[in-house]
Amino acid sequence: MAESINRGNLKKIYEGKAKILYEFSGEEDKKDLLLTYFKDDATAFNGQKKGTIIKKGEYNNAISASLFKFLKNKGINNHFIEKISEREMLTYHLKMLPIEFIVRNIAAGSLAKKMGVEEGVKFLSPVIEMCFKSDELGDPMINKSYLKAFDLCDPADASKAEKIALEINEILSKFFDDNNIIVVDFKLEFGLYKNEVMLADEITPDTMRLWDKQTMEKVDKDRFRRDLGKVEEAYQRIVDITSQC
Ligand SMILES: Nc1ncnc2c1ncn2[C@@H]1O[C@H](COP(=O)(O)OP(=O)(O)O)[C@@H](O)[C@H]1O
Ligand SMILES: [Mg+2]
Repeated sequence: MAESINRGNLKKIYEGKAKILYEFSGEEDKKDLLLTYFKDDATAFNGQKKGTIIKKGEYNNAISASLFKFLKNKGINNHFIEKISEREMLTYHLKMLPIEFIVRNIAAGSLAKKMGVEEGVKFLSPVIEMCFKSDELGDPMINKSYLKAFDLCDPADASKAEKIALEINEILSKFFDDNNIIVVDFKLEFGLYKNEVMLADEITPDTMRLWDKQTMEKVDKDRFRRDLGKVEEAYQRIVDITSQC
């Protein structure tokens, strides 16, 4: 597929904080496809902190590609088709649910603060949260009653997404545990492809909290958020681990 891409036809349709999306303008056989370009830009605290993580685009493209392939093999349908360059992947073009699904196994970040527990406390069972995806509003947490009330999406689709998110948690927690890493929490986005709820977006250290099992050292974007140093090394470690999956 990479060879058959005519770059002259690429039309930018969206630039977000971490990625740029392109459509294949005028190509009938590619009308359901998107090209995603992964950037080095890094943001934190709802865009208040901005910076660059050198080669993050390459790391995140590689990690997402590996994890999407791995999840597909485990029966989790997702938008990934093919990695076509160091920073680009080809995916299906979905109608996104405007919701972020957050799965948490261990207290960290906003939840530790909200529930008044120490960072690192393991929950008795996973917590799943839904947030309305809106930079202006700071991605407020919502519940199922908001979905119909604000015409956000079909609640049945959100329920399917939640179920898939919990399955993904089982799969990724086991995989990373086997590789000496604890999956603390992560964010997923889903969309509809021909009425099917499908996993999309990215799965990377930008969207997951990962801790070393022995040292509890952070191996994710918290190193950037909190100025802990060795940011690139952390992403590279996750590239190395996921390239084996
Ligand atoms: N397969 C897909 N089809 C359509 N949109 C997608 C797909 N995967 C991810 N997206 C959307 O593309 C955007 C990705 O760019 P990103 O830089 O992460 O944006 P944002 O700053 O909005 O999070 C997100 O808004 C995400 O919802
Ligand atoms: Mg994003």
